[in-house]
Amino acid sequence: MNLIKFTNVSVKYRGGEGLKQVNLLVRKGEFVFLVGPTGAGKSTVMKLIAMSERPSEGTVIVGRFNSGNITAKQIPYLRRQLGIVFQDFKLLEDRNVYDNVAFAMIVTGAKQREIKKQVLRVLANVGLSHKRYKMPHELSGGEQQRVAIARALVNGPYVLLADEPTGNLDPATAAEIMDLLEKINARGTAVVMATHNYALVEKARHRVVRLEGGMTVN
Ligand SMILES: Nc1ncnc2c1ncn2[C@@H]1O[C@H](COP(=O)(O)OP(=O)(O)OP(=O)(O)O)[C@@H](O)[C@H]1O
Ligand SMILES: [Mg+2]
Repeated sequence: MNLIKFTNVSVKYRGGEGLKQVNLLVRKGEFVFLVGPTGAGKSTVMKLIAMSERPSEGTVIVGRFNSGNITAKQIPYLRRQLGIVFQDFKLLEDRNVYDNVAFAMIVTGAKQREIKKQVLRVLANVGLSHKRYKMPHELSGGEQQRVAIARALVNGPYVLLADEPTGNLDPATAAEIMDLLEKINARGTAVVMATHNYALVEKARHRVVRLEGGMTVN
C-alpha cells in the first residue's frame, strides 16, 4: 500500500524554485532517507507531506488525503496520521516531559484515561518513563529528542517524518536516536528521515532518495 505519493511535484518559492518535478513513493512500513546538500529541497518534501506547503504543480497524496482537494478542516486529521520530529526538538519549555507528550493528544479531544495510557506507553518505548516529571531544560539533547519522538508517536501515526533529527547531537547520541527510529520502524511505522549524516545512512542500508537543486537524482 502506498502511504505517500508525489506525482511531478514542483514548488516555486518567491525568488526561486524549491522542488522540480519530483516523483516519490513511500510504502507502508518503509524507511526512506532523504539526502542532499543544503537547499536541495529535503525540508520542502517534509512540508509537502505535512501539507504546510502546497505544490505549485503536481499532486501529493498522503493516505486518503490529496493536496489538490484537501480542506482546511481536514488538515488536523492528516497531521494526526503523521508524527513530526525536527532538529531542534521544539518542546514546550514550561511543561514537563509528560505534559509535552500529553499535549499532542489533548488537542485531539481524547479522554484523560486514554491519554495517560498512551503517554506512559510511548515514554516507555523511548526509554524515558523515569524522567516524566522533568522539565525540558533538565534533559540532555538526546533525551529531549526522545521526548519529541514520543510526542510524535502518541497518536499512533502511520508515518514518522524526521527532519535532520540528529543534527544537534554528538555521534554517539545520534546513533542511539537512529537505533530508536529503527525500533519504531520495525514495529510498523514508516519513517522518512532527512539527514546530512552519511555515516548513519551507510550503516542503516535503507532506501536513499537523493535531492540536488530540487530534483531527485537517484
Ligand atoms: N519559505 C521559503 N521561501 C522561499 N524560499 C524557500 C522557502 N523555503 C525554502 N526555500 C528555498 O527552497 C530551496 C529548498 O529548501 P529546503 O529547506 O527544502 O532545503 P533542505 O534540503 O532542507 O536544506 P537544509 O539541508 O539546509 O535543511 C532552497 O533554495 C531554499 O532557499
Ligand atoms: Mg532542511
